[in-house]
Amino acid sequence: MNIIEVESYEEMSEKASELFIQKVRNNPNAKLGLATGSTPLGTYKRMIADYKKNGTSYKNVTTVNLDEYVGLSKKHPSSYRYYMNERFYHHLNLKQENAHVPDGTALDLTIECERYESLIDQLGGLDIQLLGIGQNGHIGFNEPGTSFDSLTHVVELTENTREVNGRFFQNREEVPTKAITMGIASILKSKRIVLLISGKEKSQALHRLLNEDVTENFPASALKKHPNFTLIYDKEAWKGV
Ligand code: PGA
Repeated sequence: MNIIEVESYEEMSEKASELFIQKVRNNPNAKLGLATGSTPLGTYKRMIADYKKNGTSYKNVTTVNLDEYVGLSKKHPSSYRYYMNERFYHHLNLKQENAHVPDGTALDLTIECERYESLIDQLGGLDIQLLGIGQNGHIGFNEPGTSFDSLTHVVELTENTREVNGRFFQNREEVPTKAITMGIASILKSKRIVLLISGKEKSQALHRLLNEDVTENFPASALKKHPNFTLIYDKEAWKGV
């Protein structure tokens, strides 16, 4: 595990964006694993700024997102496809057909999960995967107790996750009860993994990750088994204040 401690959210975003931009510059066909939530926003902003300023091209880049809510179409403002369109895809020369998010409206969710996992395999695994973490250690929507062998699957969201994610919806009742997520084993297929942890709300998760053994009760701990895992956290997350 490669650990980078930084002063602030801004510095964390700067470091993460450098890793992704470098990957795309070195390999114009790079396959990027992307995440939603508040944490990656600064990273995306910097990647977009670099594209505009330096012309780093995403023409042949493929992106694969971690998860999507079941039942939300790409037009729903709280869907992850919508989030990615607004905050990333539409600002770069990335081709829409190369930008992948699970389809939460698929009629057969089992088939959709299988399709998504085969997509990752057909791409030969992702080159670099960006991750945030939940307060309970979840990665993607893999909640505590998820098998480390899990592939893309449908999950029942915990009440806590629905509560925390309620901020992205008009009201709490609107938050879907299920989601499709890449599994822990799908995430571990990536050649490199970059986990970002920022802010005091994530302090306990950071310290558990650093100090506790690898256990399915704390999903992010699986990353410690990965040969090319980089953790970037800020001082606020470290201090918890
Ligand atoms: P956040 O979400 O970046 O909005 O904190 C991370 C997560 O729940 O995985």
